[in-house]
Amino acid sequence: RTVRLADYQPYSHLLDRVELTFHLHPTATRVQARLHLAPNPAARAGQDLRLDGEDLRLISCAIDGQAVAAAVDATGLTLAAAHLPQAAFVLETEVEIAPEGNFALEGLYMSNGMYCTQCEAQGFRKITYYPDRPDVMARFRVRIESDLPVLLSNGNPVGQGAGWAEWDDPWPKPSYLFALVAGDLRAHPGQFTTMEGRDVGLNIWVRPGDEGRCAWGMTALKASMAWDERVYGRAYDLDIFNIVAVDDFNMGAMENKGLNIFNSKAVLASSDTATDDDFARVEAIIAHEYFHNWTGNRITCRDWFQLCLKEGLTVFRDQQFSGDLRSHAVKRIEDVLMLRARQFREDGGPLAHAVRPDSFVEINNFYTATVYEKGAEVIGMLKRLVGDADYARALDLYFDRHDGQAATIEDWLRVFEDTTGRDLSQFKRWYTEAGTPVVSVTEDWADGVYTLTLAQTNPATPGQAVKGAKVIPVAVGLLNPNGDEVVPTTVLELTEAKQSFEFKGLASRPVASILRGFSAPVILERTVPASERAFLLAHDTDSFNRWEAGRALAKDVLARMIVDGAAPSADLLDGLARVAFDDALEPAFRALALRLPGEDDMAATLYAAGHVPDPAAIYRARRALHLALAHHLAAGLPGLELACRVPGSFSPDAKAAGLRALRLVALGFLARLDGGAQARAAYRAADNMTESFGSLAILLDIGEGRAELADFAAKWQGDRLVLDKWFAVQVGTATPERVADVVRDLTQRADFDWKNPNRFRAVIGALSGNHAGFHHASGESYALLADWLIKLDAKNPQTASRMSTAFESWPRYDVDRQAMMRGALQRIMATPGLSRDLSEMVGRMLA
Ligand code: ARG
Ligand code: ZN
Repeated sequence: RTVRLADYQPYSHLLDRVELTFHLHPTATRVQARLHLAPNPAARAGQDLRLDGEDLRLISCAIDGQAVAAAVDATGLTLAAAHLPQAAFVLETEVEIAPEGNFALEGLYMSNGMYCTQCEAQGFRKITYYPDRPDVMARFRVRIESDLPVLLSNGNPVGQGAGWAEWDDPWPKPSYLFALVAGDLRAHPGQFTTMEGRDVGLNIWVRPGDEGRCAWGMTALKASMAWDERVYGRAYDLDIFNIVAVDDFNMGAMENKGLNIFNSKAVLASSDTATDDDFARVEAIIAHEYFHNWTGNRITCRDWFQLCLKEGLTVFRDQQFSGDLRSHAVKRIEDVLMLRARQFREDGGPLAHAVRPDSFVEINNFYTATVYEKGAEVIGMLKRLVGDADYARALDLYFDRHDGQAATIEDWLRVFEDTTGRDLSQFKRWYTEAGTPVVSVTEDWADGVYTLTLAQTNPATPGQAVKGAKVIPVAVGLLNPNGDEVVPTTVLELTEAKQSFEFKGLASRPVASILRGFSAPVILERTVPASERAFLLAHDTDSFNRWEAGRALAKDVLARMIVDGAAPSADLLDGLARVAFDDALEPAFRALALRLPGEDDMAATLYAAGHVPDPAAIYRARRALHLALAHHLAAGLPGLELACRVPGSFSPDAKAAGLRALRLVALGFLARLDGGAQARAAYRAADNMTESFGSLAILLDIGEGRAELADFAAKWQGDRLVLDKWFAVQVGTATPERVADVVRDLTQRADFDWKNPNRFRAVIGALSGNHAGFHHASGESYALLADWLIKLDAKNPQTASRMSTAFESWPRYDVDRQAMMRGALQRIMATPGLSRDLSEMVGRMLA
């Protein structure tokens, strides 16, 4: 059944307070609920009372102490209007549930003997009968009864004894923010005093043995709390803030009020087990979930169509935070790489949808790169258009006006309109229309006037054939032929299909640096001579565009190598060599500049240029370019590798991480020349996971490293998170011919616990990430993925559905591959009992 934004109606009743009692038991947990309800004056009078509920066994139901007959069906419970008091009343229910058999990891479930919950988006209805919708906000009081030593819920602790604990959350919240945890856990404690003078007790709760991996998360949490006070003026609002690490989790983490629950991969980190990328990810996710306390919890969403209201804004905030703590230039490049790899791919295929979709079958299918990452880009554009000062004023108004409310995108845009007097009705199309705009550029130079003409096209997407022009902020700077900046960054506002912008008073024809900082999520279409790209790679003052020039040049060169068998151009090799050895540039930036465009990226690029991408040819060309670059850089590589060794004991800071990243890039090139001798030495000498895992991956990528792989396995046997890396790297570096066999071997191992989402993703996710292997002409990988999705769907629909997006790129490829991918999708579709999650996704991909 399709749910539509246009059908929104307020709930029939107001819910003021909720009292829950849990008697925990693996197969027979009892949940008693007391809901303090009253008719909602803003809703149509005389309605039945409808509560959501799934997989619950109803034991009793009473209104104001009197048993009442409830009509129960597969999705909930209805009390006829005739039985309902006209004034406030208390509805009491008791249900029984079985957390132990819950492999969907939604609602109340068990992970390694520990009870935990995941309620967003609609998991609370698997715990008790309830109006499970975000605009119903109530104060919760929770009593947990269990013999387990640690019993946690939202809010502040108000009492505990042998076998029980009680929690009270003074802040009204929707059910999706409810959380409960019970287990044998150890705390890594911390403390923070807010700018309002509140002492907050902090804890990261982990299984015994993981205590040594919490310090980094705690540092990140304190930094996040201080940052939100300093930059957004937002302080924490409870006496306690708990984080719990859970091994079985569908996503990264969840912002439950005062009790964030994390995938252990997204919170645990130590130098011997986590890479620098892991450290950075932990820091960003801790910040993201913490920032939700204001953008998500204090101000929540009226309905699930408004998901980007909290997610886009919170991603934008965590990006700002990471930029402030690390490097804005590097963070921006990483964010754009990810946006293009995931969101542009989504926006250009059968799963394209608006940042604010207007219908869904299963809301879990809309926790997407479009809602999250494009949602954040839209806020970045808004900030650029109104300026930093007005952005800050608009946000103050937003927090002021909507605190305690369940808000909409209209509310969000109105605070900007009220603050700035701008009309944002055209800007709103970014929220309602899917697809990546294409901006084409033409230049003119006459009589000392430089004219830039920008034209936009907005491609059709499923269900949206025609769309209007967007408001596109295009940041532009001009350089003179000596490489000096003659016009600093200026934001051009493209609002029509085509517009020209003039620059006067220039002494010579300038070189334009367009879309600086990636000022809008668009595809820039422009034929630029290699010499001009090389010029910008050498001289642009905007670090993003400097990187972008090198990347665009690399893509042009690779495309010609793939399509025409051309040789790598000197412009590219010389340009990258200058960046590689330019000590004035940040090492992390240099590492990014030297990373060649990925195979999937090249397939998308070729497809957009009217070619049918050949995965095998892309694979060969990319490796040939890597080798050519290695030869070109050869003389400087040993020195570079040496200069990037970080002295002293390990620190995960951004500067040290940048050096290690560049060192691994150098080792990767060296391995193509020395058969892996240096990488092997680096593996042996490494005292941290970044360098040991990084050098292992380099060795495997050149077909070496069997001994190191065995050594790694022996060393990390029994460590779930590190073993995930061991699984993933073998699949990721397997040759196109071998990858299906590698996956088959790995999935036969006893420690391939496919019900654990991290392990499943490590192997099956790495299969779809291995472009040439996944798209091998045999079609073996397509079939293998389909088999595993069908198997997983029966246990865990959410993760199966999410991983089905590997097939979303099917329209790009040749007819044989298209037929095989569609065949795999049809086979999934024909599976009896397929989940709503997976059938919606597969249906959209086949439409
Ligand atoms: N709100 C969480 C976050 O952004 C994600 C939860 C997603 N849950 C889901 N079932 N799709 O961190
Ligand atoms: Zn979020």
